Amino acid sequence: MNFHIMTLFPEMVLGGLCTSIIGRAQERGCIAVNAVNIRDYTADRHRKVDDYTYGGGAGMLMQAQPVYDCWKAVDEEIKGRRGDDVSARVVYVTPQGEVFNQKKAVELSKEEDLIFLCGHYEGIDERVLEEVVTDYISIGDYVLTGGELAAMVIIDAVARLVPGVLNNDESAQSESHASGLLEYPQYSRPEIWHGKRVPEVLLSGHHANIEKWRLEQSLERTRRRRPDMYGEYMRVGEKR
Ligand code: ADE
Repeated sequence: MNFHIMTLFPEMVLGGLCTSIIGRAQERGCIAVNAVNIRDYTADRHRKVDDYTYGGGAGMLMQAQPVYDCWKAVDEEIKGRRGDDVSARVVYVTPQGEVFNQKKAVELSKEEDLIFLCGHYEGIDERVLEEVVTDYISIGDYVLTGGELAAMVIIDAVARLVPGVLNNDESAQSESHASGLLEYPQYSRPEIWHGKRVPEVLLSGHHANIEKWRLEQSLERTRRRRPDMYGEYMRVGEKR
């Protein structure tokens, strides 16, 4: 899967996605991360990409022209490589978007190419958003200084669902949110640490009992920590 990030700070995105699992997935060719500097597409001779907002108000706005020309270059590269005329989805990361979750991550992981648009300053001229953006996504109800961290969060969550990125297929299945419940507690050696014992059932080798215990723990943890998720899980269960 190919991630394209349109940004004023390509080094920030590339730096954040070159280590650990996502970095290794790039080396192995499971995913590719392509950061494109919007500033390289400005027609302004001073390389300016922002200007004042019509109607007044605080701050500067990213202008339509550099964003559009940057998108056009990425769009053409994708179409040329794929040999078709279908534009890839463009995600504008913004606090005004639909809130990102695991279901959205699964949906996006099915795309071959995904383009992210990162805003700065007070935002981006609405007219170019209307022309290029297909999805408005927020990572939560708070405001960041720019879209880069949000794009990185989404890319991380999506990339780990791409086949081959995680070594162990099962770990993407049993983890928190995949089933609508939080994951159960886990333990490793030693058997006793700071006087705390690993729950006896996990040492029993009795798989059915272990599964039962884990489900109970997941349910209890979700009920306590995320009553909203618990309610939804129970509501869906009743319908089944
Ligand atoms: N840009 C600024 N804040 C954001 C948020 N919460 N989600 C996505 N993009 C953002």
